[in-house]
Amino acid sequence: MDSIIVRGNGALNGQIPIAGAKNACLTLMPATLLSEEPLTLTNAPRLSDIRTMTQLLRSLGAEVAAMQDGKVLAMTSHNISNHRADYDIVRKMRASILVLGPMLARDGHAIVSLPGGCAIGARPVDLHLQALEAMGAELELKEGYVHARAPGGRLRGGTIAFPFVSVGATENALMAATLAKGTTLIKNAAREPEIVDLTRCLRKMGAQISGEGTDTLTIEGVDRLNGATHPVVTDRIELGTYMLAPAICGGTVECLGGTIELVGAFCEKLDAAGVSVEETDLGLKVSRKNGRVRAVDVATEPFPGFPTDLQAQMMALLCTAEGTSVLEEKIFENRFMHAPELMRMGAKIEVHGGTARVTGVERLKGAPVMATDLRASVSLILAGLAAEGETIVNRVYHLDRGYERVEEKLGNVGAHIERVSGQ
Ligand code: UD1
Repeated sequence: MDSIIVRGNGALNGQIPIAGAKNACLTLMPATLLSEEPLTLTNAPRLSDIRTMTQLLRSLGAEVAAMQDGKVLAMTSHNISNHRADYDIVRKMRASILVLGPMLARDGHAIVSLPGGCAIGARPVDLHLQALEAMGAELELKEGYVHARAPGGRLRGGTIAFPFVSVGATENALMAATLAKGTTLIKNAAREPEIVDLTRCLRKMGAQISGEGTDTLTIEGVDRLNGATHPVVTDRIELGTYMLAPAICGGTVECLGGTIELVGAFCEKLDAAGVSVEETDLGLKVSRKNGRVRAVDVATEPFPGFPTDLQAQMMALLCTAEGTSVLEEKIFENRFMHAPELMRMGAKIEVHGGTARVTGVERLKGAPVMATDLRASVSLILAGLAAEGETIVNRVYHLDRGYERVEEKLGNVGAHIERVSGQ
């Protein structure tokens, strides 16, 4: 397994291009199953999760061609030749459950394995299933698989009222509703930019959707969808991650393609911590206002709140801030696995349930650490850049699921970072 070696750094300066959003691409790709015409995505990120989704779609009979070094994905699903998403692929990535809604909506039946994914809590899929049931689906759970059927071969419009906000369940419901007979109302829908992006793409394909970016989506089902070409929205999590690099190390980094709109709540916290963010023609320019950053309290929330996917990276920053910060994780119950690793580097952190108290130290110390999930891995790299000496981040396969060419992007702005290939 590969490792990443990071050496404590001075200031970082330069530009970092931000890729298309992994989480948007992972929901846009299954949308190909809704139409027999081609769906082409541009600005796709080059990541192992995208390759896993490619493999899954191909196993269902879709043609997927990765062009321009993977930045363009040309997909066609003339027909779905296999309606069973197998455990062997699905277990690698939780977003695989997103093929369920489209397959069921197009052909009236689907069998999908229950997913695995990052170990950040129980993460059930009950809301996905309840949403499909509200559209008339009959579901059965057998031997780890969801067997789904639409009576008469077609879902029907219904009212879905989510008890709490779920990104994935909103995406599955939205895609399924585009081909259902009649009107579907999704209440308490997620408002993440990735959902707005999906809505825009589905609309290009001929779907009738209103309410994008609000908590109520109304979908008038249509009989068929056509093809489309769509650029994947900028990855706000990759953006936020690289914005933290100059905040941690000093210097000025311009993140190309970033906008404040994508990371508003995060920018407010950076501002309070003493980090300046300036919108330029090309993206967002970030630097420390003066000296050491200050402690801030952070609570994760659904969009437009502070994203759970930036909590670990923010913690890395706050490990060297002046004062004590309180971080509250309100989306996932087990998402502080990076804390013990950061403590191995000299961070002062106390975790009690969903709350972590971080008291800043002057400087972290390099250490061998273990990446436990995707966002945790990159938080350890950021912490390593702020540490004295060498940090070895082991088990970086998680990192490759969500960050393309991290060594190159950070290396280009002056970071001392290299990848060491394992067996
Ligand atoms: C998506 C993102 C993930 C991000 C998360 C929150 C993708 C591929 N993944 O994940 O990176 O961290 O949003 O912004 O886009 N829940 C249930 N039942 C369900 C579904 C969810 O109880 O059926 C719970 C989850 O356990 C969690 C909360 O709802 O506590 C929110 O999860 P959700 O928004 O669904 O996250 P994902 O779509 O899995």
